[in-house]
Amino acid sequence: MKASRKLTLKLAAPADTAPIATMSRELIEHGLPWTWTPERVARKLAQPDTLVLTARDAARLAGFAIMQFGEERAHLSLFAVRPDCQRQGVGRRMLDWLTESALTAGIASVHLELRETNLGARRFYLKQGFAETVRIPGYYRGVETAVRMLRNIGVNT
Ligand SMILES: CC(C)(COP(=O)(O)OP(=O)(O)OC[C@H]1O[C@@H](n2cnc3c(N)ncnc32)[C@H](O)[C@@H]1OP(=O)(O)O)[C@@H](O)C(=O)NCCC(=O)NCCS
Repeated sequence: MKASRKLTLKLAAPADTAPIATMSRELIEHGLPWTWTPERVARKLAQPDTLVLTARDAARLAGFAIMQFGEERAHLSLFAVRPDCQRQGVGRRMLDWLTESALTAGIASVHLELRETNLGARRFYLKQGFAETVRIPGYYRGVETAVRMLRNIGVNT
């Protein structure tokens, strides 16, 4: 049975900050210094221009996303799905939810950076309509290259 069948998407609560930070360290920042600490995630929860989204399968945190909204651009800062929930549509559903929110907010494009070596996530974003725009050597602590990706979502694109 696919975990996505019972998935609930909702904004994060303060109790989610520690599990989100732990997932970020293990799934996104592995091998790099831990920057997405519980305190930093908690600050994002309090920022009016930022959405912290969670996906739950029953009582478990299956995934999360942090997206910051500008006037016309949104930046997807953090995005992850628990390993045992991956390839079941959880990431796609969170991204659809965020895209709907961004469209409602008048956003024209969504931007993100990710590790060049993260081929699985690059394929995921390509599949969701993102395009790779530029490589940024040394983006991560001066040692690791990032790939910047962009998806135009505005009505005129
Ligand atoms: C990238 C990630 C968020 C994808 O989440 P997910 O819930 O597994 O993705 P979905 O199940 O919605 O995948 C949708 C489609 O994207 C593509 N896709 C997803 N993961 C993929 C992978 N590892 N390799 C190739 N294609 C992939 C597939 O086309 C997939 O459809 P399919 O399973 O029917 O073939 C997840 O792998 C993850 O959390 N990785 C670790 C953290 C990370 O890298 N975050 C992104 C950088 S911040």
